[in-house]
Amino acid sequence: MDRPVNVLNAYDGSGVVFKFLRILGWQNLLNAGYFKIQDLPMLLSGLEYFQQKLVNKSIKLLEPQPGEKILDVACGYGWTSNQIAKSDAQVVGMDLLQEHIDLARQKFGDRHNLKYIVGDATKMLSSTATAGLAPESIDRMHCLEAAFHFGPQGRQAFLSQAFQLLKPGGRLVLVDFMWQTSSPEEIDELDPDLCVRETWQFEQFESLEGYRNLARESGFLEKQIIDWTIPVIKRFQNISHPIPTLLKYKIPRSFLSFFKPELSQIKPDEWNLLVKVLQLHAQVIGRTFYIAMVLEKPAR
Ligand SMILES: C[S@@+](CC[C@H](N)C(=O)[O-])C[C@H]1O[C@@H](n2cnc3c(N)ncnc32)[C@H](O)[C@@H]1O
Repeated sequence: MDRPVNVLNAYDGSGVVFKFLRILGWQNLLNAGYFKIQDLPMLLSGLEYFQQKLVNKSIKLLEPQPGEKILDVACGYGWTSNQIAKSDAQVVGMDLLQEHIDLARQKFGDRHNLKYIVGDATKMLSSTATAGLAPESIDRMHCLEAAFHFGPQGRQAFLSQAFQLLKPGGRLVLVDFMWQTSSPEEIDELDPDLCVRETWQFEQFESLEGYRNLARESGFLEKQIIDWTIPVIKRFQNISHPIPTLLKYKIPRSFLSFFKPELSQIKPDEWNLLVKVLQLHAQVIGRTFYIAMVLEKPAR
């Protein structure tokens, strides 16, 4: 793709989808959420409960231990890194965006075993060196729902550098959207005007097979591959299915705005754009898996 990815544009609040999600509760976390059927009544209080569930599921796979060095890659606003730090590990949260790191430091910066740094996951060896993290010094690494931004070459660089930074026997938990077939370029047919890709600033998703190959080529052993497509993507799609149709009309919009007055910030022309982009999202996301990979560097 000849269009450069600008991650800040996805998160600076200028896009109507991001604005909408923020109003629905995307405040401390920036992930899709994990929706168990029995938890669905919690939707009345917004999306954060489900986002926290996803983080906690992912941290369970990481199994952080007291005293270990852990890098939380693409930490967003820092909530996840703080959650990992509750294990008494020494945690570094890293994100590309200074804005995210400033917020993370404001919220969680005073914890003795936690620090935040600005750094690019696709150039991790240099970003982490400035924070005193040498190759083979990290016990565990976590990357939740961010590597789709990195691009095909970026993902290769990320996996290879993660391998170099981890100690022998170290673990990487990588959770991401993955294209269901081995032809991720199929997204061009579903998103011809780049609406979804510009909203979230990415080129294309990696396929599951692509990720497995990259991991193997970098030297990792596959410990577990867990498919969370149903609780993360399908269930959310089922719940949100009527939303774009309802949002086409003024009465349901006014009804929703009664419960969420902040929705009145969305301008009339933005509503139409929101409906279009949400419909496209449903199609694109319907062709992806949501997978957690637990990868390990062989012990010497
Ligand atoms: C969908 S958010 C997920 C954030 C967090 N893991 C969470 O669950 O809330 C993706 C994050 O990846 C960060 N990001 C994107 N590209 C990056 C890169 N090359 N290096 C580091 N962080 C990156 C973005 O700034 C954003 O904070």
